[in-house]
Amino acid sequence: MDEGRGELAEIAREARVLLERERARGRSRFVLGDAGASAGVVGPGSRALARERVEDPPRQFAAGPDCLTERGSAPLPSPETAEVLALPGFESVVPQRPVAVPIPTSQPLAPSADLPQDLAALATLVSTCRKCGLCETRTQTVFADGAPTARLLLVGEAPGRDEDAQGLPFVGRAGQLLNKMLTAIDLKREEVYICNVLKCRPPENRTPQPEEVERCLPYLEQQIALIRPSLICALGLSAAQALLRTKASMTSMRGRVFEFRGVRLIPTYHPAALLRNPALKREAWADLQQVRDLLRAGDAA
Ligand code: URA
Repeated sequence: MDEGRGELAEIAREARVLLERERARGRSRFVLGDAGASAGVVGPGSRALARERVEDPPRQFAAGPDCLTERGSAPLPSPETAEVLALPGFESVVPQRPVAVPIPTSQPLAPSADLPQDLAALATLVSTCRKCGLCETRTQTVFADGAPTARLLLVGEAPGRDEDAQGLPFVGRAGQLLNKMLTAIDLKREEVYICNVLKCRPPENRTPQPEEVERCLPYLEQQIALIRPSLICALGLSAAQALLRTKASMTSMRGRVFEFRGVRLIPTYHPAALLRNPALKREAWADLQQVRDLLRAGDAA
C-alpha cells in the first residue's frame, strides 16, 4: 500500500517537473493522453529524440504529401486536419503554431571580405582546403548542389560515403529520402540549395568534432551570405547547433522558427534519423509543412 502511494507520488512529481519544463518553454496547452495512454504533454518538445542506431530494411515510400509514411500505411494528417494526433501507445501531439525565436546576432547577413565573393571561387578554395585533419581522409570535398538562386537552403551535417565518392551532398539513402521530402512540399531538388556544415567526410561517418565545425563553418556562412535564401532548414542536430551556436537538443528546438542573421531557420530531424527511427516522421512532416507554408507566405508578400 505504502509502496503504491510512494510510486504515485513519484509519478506525480515527475509529471509536475515535466509540465513545469514545458510551461517554461512557453507551452500553455496540455492534453491528457488518449484512451489507454498515459498523460501526455503536447507539443513538439514532448517526445524524447530517440537516437538508437537501428538499421531499417529498405522501405518504399509513396510520392506526394504522405511520402514520409510507408506505402500502404495511413497518410499523415496535416496540422489543419489533425487537431490531435494519436501516437502509437503513448501520447497525443497537438500540432502547434511555431514560435519565432529570434537569436540575437551581431552580424548581419553579409559575405565575409576574407573569402571569395562568388560561389564558384569559394568552391575552388574549399576543394583544396587543409584546415583540419579530414583533408587527409577525404576523396574529395563536397561543396553543394542545387540552385544558387534558391529561396530554400538546406544544411546537413557532413558528406557520407556516397557523397565523398560523388562529390555531391545527399546522394545516398538519406538523400533519396530528402528528395522525396522535397517532392512532398512541391519542391524539386534543383530548385533548392543543399550543402553541409562540413565539406569533407568524417571517417566512418562519425559526428563532426567541434574544431572541425569551427574551421569549416566560415565556408557555410559565406555560402549562405552569397545565396541569401529566404529560409534555411537545418537538417539534424549538427547543422542546427552549428548555425545557432547552441548546445540545445533537437527536441527542444524543433517546432520553432529561429533566425540566422535575419534569415528564418527551421530545425528538423536529419533524414538519416528518420530512416533509423520512422516514428520521427510525423514531426518531420509537420516541420516540412511549416517550411512549405513560410515559403508560400513569402510568395504572397
Ligand atoms: N548526411 C549529411 O548530413 N549530408 C550529406 O550530404 C549526406 C548525408
